[in-house]
Amino acid sequence: MSISARSSEALARRFGTPLYVYDGDALLARYERFRKAFAARETLLCYAFKANPLAALARLLARAGAGCDVVSGGELARALAAGFAPERVVFSGVGKTDDELRAGLRAGLLAFNVESAEELARLARTAARLKRRAPFAVRVNPDIRAGGHAHIVTGLAETKFGVEAAEALALYRRAARSPWLRAAGLQCHLGSQILSPAPYRRALARATALLGAIAAPLGHLDLGGGMGIGYDGGPGLSPEALARALLPGLRGLPQRLVLEPGRWLVGPVGALLTRVVARKTTSRRRFVVVDAGMNDLLRPALYGARHRVVAVRPRRGAISAADIVGPVCETADFLARGVRLGPAQRGDVLAVLDAGAYGSSMGSQYNSRPRPAEVVVRGGRARLARRRETMGDLVRHEL
Ligand code: LLP
Repeated sequence: MSISARSSEALARRFGTPLYVYDGDALLARYERFRKAFAARETLLCYAFKANPLAALARLLARAGAGCDVVSGGELARALAAGFAPERVVFSGVGKTDDELRAGLRAGLLAFNVESAEELARLARTAARLKRRAPFAVRVNPDIRAGGHAHIVTGLAETKFGVEAAEALALYRRAARSPWLRAAGLQCHLGSQILSPAPYRRALARATALLGAIAAPLGHLDLGGGMGIGYDGGPGLSPEALARALLPGLRGLPQRLVLEPGRWLVGPVGALLTRVVARKTTSRRRFVVVDAGMNDLLRPALYGARHRVVAVRPRRGAISAADIVGPVCETADFLARGVRLGPAQRGDVLAVLDAGAYGSSMGSQYNSRPRPAEVVVRGGRARLARRRETMGDLVRHEL
């Protein structure tokens, strides 16, 4: 992300902290880079909306031609409002309700990514009632281990996601007998924060074998999301390397390729700005208490995720290990532990890097803390994209 120290300081002053700041130009550049890497064959990038549903960011991607992967009726409504074309939207998730199926059918999506026999039957019934044919892709669980923390591994048979290959085949056979179902594609998702192309190549091999056994002529093959980024400052998974790993195996397949990147697109373009509220040192640790907490960025507490934290204006002096902790009453309330940090004073602005994905979107009001403001910078100009919540917002829905 290319927002300078000077402008970070100015943004913190103008909009207050904690503050989510996104570089909209960098987001578009990353989208273009990913798209170009796969330009050799028809590929649809369906942005995983859950990573960051901010309309100001979603609109940029929609206008650039991206599709979208949604996992709830709420995401569907927001994605359509942001301008994603319904025929470029896939609907994932193990627990779609009847209302959500109906909303998707009315919108006319590219596909429902179906995760169980029961869901497929329910989709057929709902489609029959609405008299709309339902396009679907079975999400096959590839039983491949890939990705970061155990909480975000999804492609193993022990997880709740997808169906096993043999069952997937049976579902396509069963669906062929329903006039209300249309087999549109095949889907598979490995997990998240995957840094090597190798598991994707393996998943492609399994998917191709399955495609050969499915009688229906499927329009697309969706290999999911999960492309990892370098939280340590490294390059992350390169889309060019991913394309090199996948394109040869796709040669000869008539299907359009669909991918569902979330984190890779939006993670590195966002930072969480926070101010130092207090400092304290115990016999064991140096603590820097800041005004952002686990309610604003849950990843460190939930997954032990390690985000880099830097002083926007580093001060001269000795560098030592510090725990950057929030004001929330939980020991798990830390943004980073043991980071190398120079002297910090009350009021100094720190930036938590690579916070664009699953930062704001996983935020809450825990401890009755209003959600932060969010700002998008484009062409050097900052615009408020979501205002800071007020104390009134905390009780707005109470009766
Ligand atoms: N497609 C499906 C079906 C998914 O379940 C996910 C993410 C994605 C695409 C996008 O994955 P990505 O490209 O963003 O890795 N909260 C966790 C990550 C959870 C990912 C859930 N599924 C975190 O903060 O690391």
